[in-house]
Amino acid sequence: MTETPLPRSQFPVCERFHYLNHAGVSPLPIAAQKAIAEITDDFVRAGAANFDHWQDAQERARSAAAALLGVDPSDLAFVKNTTEGLGFVANGLSWKRGDRVIVPDFEFPSTIYPWLSLRELGVEVDIIKPVGETHALPIEVFAEALEDNERRGGTKLVAASWVQYARGYRLDAPRLVELAHRYGAMVCLDVIQGAGLIPTALEDWNVDFAMADSHKWMLGPVGIGVFYVASRCRHLLRPLEPGWASVIHRDDFENLDLAYDDTARRFEGGTYNNITICGMHASIDLILKAGTEQLWRHVDTLADHLATGLGGLGATVLSDRAEGRSGIVTFAVPGSDTSTVADLVAQRGFQVSVRGGGVRVSPHGYNSLREIDDLISALRSSAL
Ligand SMILES: Cc1ncc(COP(=O)(O)O)c(C=O)c1O
Repeated sequence: MTETPLPRSQFPVCERFHYLNHAGVSPLPIAAQKAIAEITDDFVRAGAANFDHWQDAQERARSAAAALLGVDPSDLAFVKNTTEGLGFVANGLSWKRGDRVIVPDFEFPSTIYPWLSLRELGVEVDIIKPVGETHALPIEVFAEALEDNERRGGTKLVAASWVQYARGYRLDAPRLVELAHRYGAMVCLDVIQGAGLIPTALEDWNVDFAMADSHKWMLGPVGIGVFYVASRCRHLLRPLEPGWASVIHRDDFENLDLAYDDTARRFEGGTYNNITICGMHASIDLILKAGTEQLWRHVDTLADHLATGLGGLGATVLSDRAEGRSGIVTFAVPGSDTSTVADLVAQRGFQVSVRGGGVRVSPHGYNSLREIDDLISALRSSAL
């Protein structure tokens, strides 16, 4: 495999590193750098004279992000990060004492704290246990918790990451939603560790709420993300930051009626971060051009190759490589300290992370099979 679905020429980071940390923070492609430079330059030279143009650009970015997530643009709001989107759901829904939320253990802090904070309102948070070394979340684990809760008045919401951040288990999102809805529960899915790489169809999957920042698999800048609210759920969320941009008459500042926009824009209170929105748009366009089917096939092949190579070295692969597989491969080397292993590969130019008790490797569509071979060789020659 010599060609990569994303052009390596877009990623100058390749000149310095074997960058295998897209589950952490991605490098920006040239296209995003150019888009950010263009709008910044315009703000320098023209101030707000071209504001309408950048507002139109913002709506084109929304449509591109919607295409990536498989949703209607009117159901998508810009947020500053995933955490903000999660907070919009946790704090925007109305809760009463005794309402129940189900959330898996080993989640990223931002995916669990918003629900734990509801305990002070009397909300019951049931933390369910993933299974085995891969921290798998088969549908049965959710089914058992939902069934248990039936005797206690039911479940209001199931919150989970589509792909777990540390060992990378990808739960079966459409089946989870189908199951939860059968029990009358809504589903809030943090999609940051999958969207941009794995084909995503939130609307077809009937997900109620979802969110993702752009700086991981979407290859965008930090500090800009998207928040999906299914239109049937829009009225259930109280906008937490109402401002001029939240209302249907947004350009008429003298009209002080709080008449919320009838799209997800009601969750956008104030002036937009147009600079990062433009960067995110350029990155998403690269991904859409390559196609997520193609990207996922490529990364899946790299991940399989890595898992096989690691097995040959006697390393323990902590990530599922069957139905729960994702772009994350986390491994441990028996008898070696994980941070030492990560430091050794870092010295050889590999960017990886230490997560979930192992070294987390997360390639994207411009990484090559050759880089995976080089990583395996580096591990072999480190005589771990
Ligand atoms: C599952 C998950 N959710 C959320 C985040 C980060 O959230 P934010 O975009 O708010 O920084 C991460 C980052 O590692 C993550 O892995």
